Amino acid sequence: MKWIMARDYTDMSRKAANIVSAQVLLKEDSVLGLATGSTPIGLYKQLIAWQHKDDISFDKVTTVNLDEYRNLSPEDPQSYRHFMNEQFFSQIDIRMENTNVPNSCCADVMRECLRYDAMIENRGGIDLQLIGIGNNGHIGFNEPGEAFIMETHLVDLSPTTIKANARFFDGDEQKVPKQAITMGIKHIMQAKRLLLVASGNAKMEVVKKALSGPVTPRVPASILQLHKDLTVVCCPDA
Ligand code: F6R
Repeated sequence: MKWIMARDYTDMSRKAANIVSAQVLLKEDSVLGLATGSTPIGLYKQLIAWQHKDDISFDKVTTVNLDEYRNLSPEDPQSYRHFMNEQFFSQIDIRMENTNVPNSCCADVMRECLRYDAMIENRGGIDLQLIGIGNNGHIGFNEPGEAFIMETHLVDLSPTTIKANARFFDGDEQKVPKQAITMGIKHIMQAKRLLLVASGNAKMEVVKKALSGPVTPRVPASILQLHKDLTVVCCPDA
């Protein structure tokens, strides 16, 4: 496990972007596992800037996102597909057909979960998985529970997650979808490299607790301790 303590959010974003950039430079057809949320926005901005300067290309890259809210269409501004298109994909030279986010509007969720896992396997697994962490220790939307769920699955979001994510829905918890489809622990842990980003003192505490305490599904990020190639890039409050 490697810890990189950044000075501030900009520094954290730049350092984490350097790791993603190096991955793509070393393997131009990398499979990148990506995350949404507020933490990686600066990282995406930095990668966009480097791509515009021709320092890096995503032309041969494939991406797989961790999760999507249930029943939010790609056109819905709150969907993670929309977030990724706006914050990253539409601003770089990636081929849209090489970007993947779970299709949560499907009629048959089980089938979609199986399709998503098979799609990741068919691409040879994930080379580098970017991960944010929830206040409750979730990764993707693998919420605290009695067991680690290995496969992509439909999940009931925990009250803490709904509360935390209300900030993206006018502060109204009622508007936050109550379910999501998330990649399971298997493909996260099978990724060749993991990059965990955390911004602010509170998140750093959650990361420390997860990575130094017991490995338990009650703190899903604790499983990351068992990965051979985990890099944590974090920064204190401004
Ligand atoms: C989103 C995801 C979540 C977030 C986590 C932290 O795709 O996988 O696990 O990474 O909820 O979100 P922020 O960065 O908004 O604090």
